[in-house]
Amino acid sequence: MSVCPVLRMGDPRLLRISRPVARFDTPELHALIRDMEDTMAHLNGAGLAAPQIGVDLRVVIFGVAANPRYPDVEEVPYTVLINPVIEPLDEDEEDGWEGCLSVPGMRGVVPRFTRLRYSGLDPFGNRIEREVSGFHARVVQHECDHLDGILYPMRIRDFRLFGFTEELFPDGSVAGDD
Ligand code: NI
Repeated sequence: MSVCPVLRMGDPRLLRISRPVARFDTPELHALIRDMEDTMAHLNGAGLAAPQIGVDLRVVIFGVAANPRYPDVEEVPYTVLINPVIEPLDEDEEDGWEGCLSVPGMRGVVPRFTRLRYSGLDPFGNRIEREVSGFHARVVQHECDHLDGILYPMRIRDFRLFGFTEELFPDGSVAGDD
């Protein structure tokens, strides 16, 4: 296990534009992804971007298993996505609550494109291309924003819908940090 410290908002390394990965199926790339997986699993995150552990490469991982405690949460297949490209399929946006391991203990409502196509490469250099919507699309947009130095609070339009998780959801219906 290599659980890495997750940088928190305010650390300038979260604001960098990350570099594309140039070489695939290397020991260094596989080691980075293992570190990201261990860190995300340890913190029960829905996703993690390499900049959050201080690595300025365009690598994100995400995935949400079905959880009987949160029946409203849609399942998202576990995915490693490198050098991602996002293309919205139309102009539709929807609001939804987000959290981030780099902004622990808080939640905010963020507008995101409802439907999009994303593409990129897996760790072996194989192409990935999917059309997704809803929560899956939201998670991808959140993680890919990290590669351009954007944290979700920067996208909030109504700051009345931003605050500490425990205050916003006193019944405990939303838990965890991401
Ligand atoms: Ni995040």
